[in-house]
Amino acid sequence: MSEREVWATRIGLILSMAGNAIGLGNFWRFPRVLAANGGGAFMIPYFIALLILGIPLMWVEWATGRYGGKYGHGTLGPMFYLMSRETLKPKTALIFGMIGGMLAFAVTTLLNSYYIHVIGWTAAYAIYSASGAYYGANTVKFFLDHIANTPMVLATWLIPVVILFVAAYRGVSKGIEAFNKVMMPLLYVFAVILAIRSITTGSPIKPEWSSIIGLEYIWKPDFNTLSSNFWRISLAAAGQIFFTLSLGMGIIQNYASYVRKDDDIALSALTTTALNEFAEVVLGGTIAIPIAFAYLGTEFIEGIRAGEIGSAGLAFMALPNVFTTLGGIGRVFGTMWFLLLFFAGWTSAIAMYNYLTAMLEEDLGIKRKIGALLVFIIYFLLGLPVALDPTLTYFDELDTWVGSYILVVLGFFDVLVAVYLFKPNNLWKELHEGALMKVPTLFKYILMTLTPIYILILLAGTTYDYYISGVFAKTDPLVVAARVAIVLALIVGALETYYGIKKRYARELAENRKLVTAG
Ligand code: ALA
Repeated sequence: MSEREVWATRIGLILSMAGNAIGLGNFWRFPRVLAANGGGAFMIPYFIALLILGIPLMWVEWATGRYGGKYGHGTLGPMFYLMSRETLKPKTALIFGMIGGMLAFAVTTLLNSYYIHVIGWTAAYAIYSASGAYYGANTVKFFLDHIANTPMVLATWLIPVVILFVAAYRGVSKGIEAFNKVMMPLLYVFAVILAIRSITTGSPIKPEWSSIIGLEYIWKPDFNTLSSNFWRISLAAAGQIFFTLSLGMGIIQNYASYVRKDDDIALSALTTTALNEFAEVVLGGTIAIPIAFAYLGTEFIEGIRAGEIGSAGLAFMALPNVFTTLGGIGRVFGTMWFLLLFFAGWTSAIAMYNYLTAMLEEDLGIKRKIGALLVFIIYFLLGLPVALDPTLTYFDELDTWVGSYILVVLGFFDVLVAVYLFKPNNLWKELHEGALMKVPTLFKYILMTLTPIYILILLAGTTYDYYISGVFAKTDPLVVAARVAIVLALIVGALETYYGIKKRYARELAENRKLVTAG
């Protein structure tokens, strides 16, 4: 087996992992979900979910990834297989491998197929902001016209994808790490500038509208709203924790597989979680919502809450209006906002891109450079239905299942495999190899009890929520198309994983006893 790639520097690893986690979820999804769920009411279950789900699962996924890397794997299927083998016979472990592999395959193909399109929109909007294209226009119509303009959508989609291809082609340290080392510091600088601009806005439109009221909306605990909408808000908060930390996607494990076997993962996992949370609640929370409070007033926020303003409403329709109000300097802030989204999105999309490149390389023996090109083609094809549907029905259906539901299902298997089948003590040992900190043992017990229980409640609650809100009853052809795509992705993912594990562990599976050890 050829020498496995590793991160070149520690700072590069931390920035790349932070880049993996910090994404559109932090600056685009978070403010919207926060506003839709009552601001201060949302933050309470959000922090609880961070403690019970977010931080412990981060440790689990890092440990899983580095463990798999020792055997030369960067994808979830073989990782789950190897861990399950500690308790189960190889033939049964193979089933868990296939489950992990198929879920991660569905996420890294389909989630990224629309995620990259949103990054493409941000590229277009960075250009529109710099040139003042939407100045004087109705920004809602402007956005709808943009996404209906297929040649333009495809042309601007190419911007992130070509850079993704170049980074994956160059490899982990020379490509991914190098790009993250440039994009992540820029992202923070832009976010800090925008956050400062936001809180120093004052009351530009009406005396009773200000960004400080926006901050209060987020930070003043609102127990009344929470208690009357407890389930809905708690589910949304837990779902956001999954999305923002890139949990249940297979991509934290993929990046962790390139960590040297005696390098710290315990403190690194915590550090990247902290960087993500700083970007999300401090920076992300200080930009969009407070600005909207100052320029568009509470009515606008009520609109988000009532579900009248969709996913693109805040970032692509409302904020451009604000930039227009600012005049010339608004072009600078607008460009900065969309570049910030671009960097955030790109540094997450590359993790999914790399997952598939690694899969082709490790399971099918396709050289990285060719694999990177194949992944480009895969994303082009999978992205076409997104690009050709300006109603975003197909996109929304994928987001409902792949971007929300499957992550949580995968999170459940994360715990089942890495904690129960691998055994808690093995996990703890793996987590502490080379560790620069000792993880409080309390977290081991949280992982064995509260985390899986919380995930199961989350799954049951989300299923019920989908049921009563009519998600299951939808029959629109585009909805059906999205569901067919999901089922196909799961089947292909399962078959691919089966093939990959079978090929590498043929003898062990034939004899149905553990033979292969790391090294
Ligand atoms: N964690 C990534 C995000 O927040 C996927 O967008």
